[in-house]
Amino acid sequence: MLFPAFLYLVTLCALALAQDVNLAEVKKAFNNAQIPGNLTLAFNPKVLLEVTFPQLSGTPITLHAGIQLPRNATAGPPHFSVLGPAKRDPFVVAAVDLDAPTPQAPTSSQIRHFLGGNFIKSPGQSSLLSNTTPAISEFRQPTPPAGSDPHRYVFLLFRQSKDFNEQTLVTPTSPIQLFNISQFSSAVGLGEPIGGTFMLVGPPPPAIAVD
Ligand SMILES: *[C@@H]1O[C@H](CO)[C@@H](O)[C@H](O)[C@H]1NC(C)=O
Ligand SMILES: *[C@@H]1O[C@H](CO)[C@@H](O)[C@H](O)[C@H]1NC(C)=O
Ligand SMILES: *[C@@H]1O[C@H](CO)[C@@H](O)[C@H](O)[C@H]1NC(C)=O
Repeated sequence: MLFPAFLYLVTLCALALAQDVNLAEVKKAFNNAQIPGNLTLAFNPKVLLEVTFPQLSGTPITLHAGIQLPRNATAGPPHFSVLGPAKRDPFVVAAVDLDAPTPQAPTSSQIRHFLGGNFIKSPGQSSLLSNTTPAISEFRQPTPPAGSDPHRYVFLLFRQSKDFNEQTLVTPTSPIQLFNISQFSSAVGLGEPIGGTFMLVGPPPPAIAVD
């Protein structure tokens, strides 16, 4: 046999451990990282939001809440899947940096790294989401400044409200800094997120001088 059963099992376990599998653990990770308080947004996930970053070579990386990734693994754009009882699409996905320019003095946070609506479950691939319209803010790769501690990049899934497609509070030309997802979600009727996850990304290691 080319691919022994035990190896297959090991692979399955590695995959399972590599991503969020348990809502209570996701919630705990958010709480431990003080994310709900810093977002001023209650976080009681009903579904798992899978955020997967394609890699130039090798397997794509699916986040688990709190994973730290090297910046060069986060070029994206990521794709999104929903696991759990989220039958009613469409959805809105948002991603924000809570810690810009540094966690100690987040004076330009939140930075909006993604905001898009009209995500629907792809026919045939029950959990993968596809967006049927361009995003309002396309994905921006994390760029924490040199010397900063790692930043928290938080991805949130909302059930889309009727008002979302009519809203003009945030457009593709709006500044991405000093965003407030809690204020935005309440203004456009998104309410609380139904899922989410997050990653930590620090500045790339300084280039080694060669001379
Ligand atoms: C997050 O909340 C904690 C607890 O209130 C606070 O100490 C910390 O400064 C906040 N951090 C940010 C980046 O808002
Ligand atoms: C990121 O950089 C590290 C070290 O500089 C390298 O080993 C790795 O292959 C790079 N990964 C990607 C996805 O480019
Ligand atoms: C975001 O808006 C909420 C109100 O929805 C407010 O309580 C909170 O202080 C605001 N956060 C920031 C960082 O301005």
